[in-house]
Amino acid sequence: MRTIEWRDGVVVTIDQTRLPNEEVFLELKSLQEVASAIKEMKVRGAPLIGVTAAYGLALAAYHSKAKTRENILKELEASANVIRATRPTAVNLFWAVDRILKRAYETVGDHEAVRRAVIEEANRMADEDVEVNRRIGRNGSRLLKDGDTVLTHCNAGSLATVDYGTALAVIRSAWEEGKRVSVIADETRPKLQGARLTAYELMRDGVPVTLITDSMVGYVMAEGLVDKVIVGADRIVQDAVINKIGTYTVAVLAHEHGVPFYVAAPKSTFDLERKAEEVEIEMRSPEEVTHIGSVRIAPEGVKVLNPAFDITPISYVTAIICEDGVIYKEEFERDLKGETGTR
Ligand code: MRU
Repeated sequence: MRTIEWRDGVVVTIDQTRLPNEEVFLELKSLQEVASAIKEMKVRGAPLIGVTAAYGLALAAYHSKAKTRENILKELEASANVIRATRPTAVNLFWAVDRILKRAYETVGDHEAVRRAVIEEANRMADEDVEVNRRIGRNGSRLLKDGDTVLTHCNAGSLATVDYGTALAVIRSAWEEGKRVSVIADETRPKLQGARLTAYELMRDGVPVTLITDSMVGYVMAEGLVDKVIVGADRIVQDAVINKIGTYTVAVLAHEHGVPFYVAAPKSTFDLERKAEEVEIEMRSPEEVTHIGSVRIAPEGVKVLNPAFDITPISYVTAIICEDGVIYKEEFERDLKGETGTR
C-alpha cells in the first residue's frame, strides 16, 4: 500500500484522519496544503512526515516564479521554515528538509536545474524509504520465531512510511517468510493510531491482530501473552528513544516481565548529536483528550495535559533494528563512546 505519490505537480496521499471508515485520497497542491496536512496529522508517522516534507519543498519548487538560481534558493529557504514549524519531534522532518536544501545548493545550473533537482530528490527519498523499510524487515524478522506474539504501539506500518512500515515491516517480513506470528495492537489514546491504523492495515494483509486498550498492556504481559514488543521511533538520541506517548509505559512493563523490547527505525530517525532533554516534545490540543471523535467525554473546563510523545531511556531497549542490521543496546552505547570506531 503506497501512501504517497508525486503526480505532475500534485502530491497524492491518503487522509489518515478518515481511516478506517473511509479511504479518502488528498491532492496536495501547495506548500501550505502540505504543512496543514502534517500539522493536522492527515499524514503522520516519522518517515512519512519526512517524505511529505520533501514533497512540500518539491511543490514550492514546482510552482516557483523565480527566474534566477539565487531567488529559487531563497524561496526554498523560506518554504523550509514553514515545514520546520509544523511538528517538532520527529527528526525525519528536519532531516528531509536539510537533505532537499543540500541538493538544491549543490546543483550546478540555473533555477530550472534547481527545480528539477529538488523534485528528483523528493522522489528518490520516497523510493529509498521503501527499500530501507524492506531491509529493516529482513534484519528484524530474524528475531521472530514461528508462533511469536508481538505487541506494538501506535502505528509504525505502511501508513507511517511510504510503504511497508518499520515495526510492522519486521512482522510483515516474518509473515512473508511463513512464520505464523500474531500481533497485539494497543489502541494508542488519544489519536487511536493502533485501533484505527495498525488494526486496519494488518487485517488488510491477513496478519492475525488482537486489539486491546492501552490500560490492558500490563494484563497481557502478566498473562504471558506477549513474546516480544516492537515499536517505531520519532527520534533516537544518545540516551533514549522518543516515540508515541505510551511507549515508555510499554517499555517499563516489558522490562518488568522480561519481554524483549525492540525499536525498528531507519537511520534517518537517528539524532545522535543530541540527548533527550534537548528535544521538544510536541504538545497537542486539549480536545484530543477531552473528546473521542466529536463526542465530549470530560467535563467542560477541565485542565488537560496532552504530550504527543514520551521518552524511553535506552536502558529499556533490547535492540534497535535499522536498515544496516540489529544494534543491541550494549553496542549502541559502546558505539556512542567511540569504542567501536564506527562514529
Ligand atoms: O503522532 P504520530 O502518529 O505521527 O506518531 C507516530 C509514531 O509515534 C510512530 O511510532 C513513529 O513515527 C514511527 S512510524 C514508522
